[in-house]
Amino acid sequence: MIMADPILEVRDLTVSYGRVEAVRNVSFSVEEGSLVTLVGANGAGKSSIINAVSGILRPRSGKINFAGRDITRTPAHRLVGSGLVQVPEGRQILATLTVEENLRLGGWHRGRTTAASIGEMYGRFPVLAERRSLPAGTLSGGEQQMLTIARALVARPKLLLMDEPSMGLAPKIVDEVFDVIHEIRASGTTVLLVEQNARRALRAADHGYVLASGEIVAEGPAVELLADDAIVQAYLGIERPNLE
Ligand SMILES: Nc1ncnc2c1ncn2[C@@H]1O[C@H](COP(=O)(O)OP(=O)(O)OP(=O)(O)O)[C@@H](O)[C@H]1O
Ligand SMILES: [Mg+2]
Repeated sequence: MIMADPILEVRDLTVSYGRVEAVRNVSFSVEEGSLVTLVGANGAGKSSIINAVSGILRPRSGKINFAGRDITRTPAHRLVGSGLVQVPEGRQILATLTVEENLRLGGWHRGRTTAASIGEMYGRFPVLAERRSLPAGTLSGGEQQMLTIARALVARPKLLLMDEPSMGLAPKIVDEVFDVIHEIRASGTTVLLVEQNARRALRAADHGYVLASGEIVAEGPAVELLADDAIVQAYLGIERPNLE
């Protein structure tokens, strides 16, 4: 079988904050059209990896290739235009701007072509259409998460990076967020999902990497990781508590 080139390839990535090495020699790849997850506990280094890939953080060493280009030192604002878009951790909406203004920000680099994608998002997320003229800060936590995802989709990503999209949400809303993730993947967008909610993320993913203390300790097809008792006991033993 001929394998497609990965859309994202990360080699020997090390990220540090001063003397703290948060990520050490991490390598992984993401095939085009797949959903790949990096799972790991609080502090494992998940956000550090995703922020290095999206150009928010500069890695100490290593190489990052996206769509055949070396992007190791390319800043975030230049990557968005090439199709690498991040849904940030913690729903960073602009609370005093309206829902629609937040969506428009997702397409700032695309100019007038944004209107069509905003319309598409209103079709996909009717609650955002209903509230389009309200300040985004008046939305519930779940609605704000949908807005953050919709805003990233307005940028028409080839690769969508998602940092803990289910964090702090009630179980029913977590289900909705994962439904949206399935739809995004089904529509052909490649997804790299980072989650503390390891079981849930692995159930949604094609391939998974388990991260502990800044290093990859296991990888494989997501179904195999979920079926591996040693991995489940060591890293996925506890279902994450519901925070609401
Ligand atoms: N700005 C920073 N300055 C110093 N240390 C940091 C900084 N950000 C993260 N770290 C440290 O780097 C390590 C990895 O953090 P990171 O945020 O990447 O983990 P995470 O897996 O995303 O965790 P969480 O699930 O809590 O979001 C942790 O030990 C953390 O304390
Ligand atoms: Mg994080």
